[in-house]
Amino acid sequence: MRLDYLTIFPDYLDALRLSLPGKAVEKGLLELHVHDLRSWTHDRHRTVDDTPYGGGAGMVLKPEPFGEALDELAVDGATVVVPTPAGRPFTQPLARELATRERLVFLCGRYEGIDERIIDRCVDEEISIGDYVLSGGELGAMVLLDAVTRLIPGVLGHADSAVEDSFSAGWLDCPHYTRPEEFDGQRVPEVLLSGNHERIRRWRLKQSLGRTWQRRPELLEDLELSKEQQQLLAEYIREQETDNH
Ligand code: ADE
Repeated sequence: MRLDYLTIFPDYLDALRLSLPGKAVEKGLLELHVHDLRSWTHDRHRTVDDTPYGGGAGMVLKPEPFGEALDELAVDGATVVVPTPAGRPFTQPLARELATRERLVFLCGRYEGIDERIIDRCVDEEISIGDYVLSGGELGAMVLLDAVTRLIPGVLGHADSAVEDSFSAGWLDCPHYTRPEEFDGQRVPEVLLSGNHERIRRWRLKQSLGRTWQRRPELLEDLELSKEQQQLLAEYIREQETDNH
């Protein structure tokens, strides 16, 4: 997979080299190219923005530097992505979809945004990482990249790590514990020490479903639960009700 970033703050993306995506680059599973948008300007001041037509506050990123950059970078069937609060909400299924693409190009906006003619002509996906406004697309693009690259086969150490995460099955992850068995008077749930893999599997599934029911009940509406899953969730709810009385 090859990823290209167009930004006016290329240093911002250095952090990517430190974490998982950096390891993926080292392993040769990912090619990461960060480009300074100003490389595609031709004036002395390397201007990338201008005042908005129609007036109003702020500046708009000019179309020409993006246009020229994309002539070079948006090749070989690349998918061009703009992180923006006006985009389609980012979810795990969308991360999975993007992980199947061979080339992604991220355009990072700043100020009031990017001239709409670039969006109309060159952009395949506008994606929002949440209902809040960041000061630029860089952080959004980094979030997208992190979620996507960890799905590339071979990037995560343990083959099952991505499969068992929150959202991969459509529900939240179960709680996790490590040594010591007792910390500050709190014991690790007994079942996890039992060595009984079937009991542990059922406990984890029940915790996942129960947490989803408590914290994000709307996620359950989209799921068709199996008989076992329905039973475990019903048990969880019953236990909660008993605890609360
Ligand atoms: N850029 C600014 N805010 C954003 C958001 N919420 N999601 C994606 N990109 C953004």
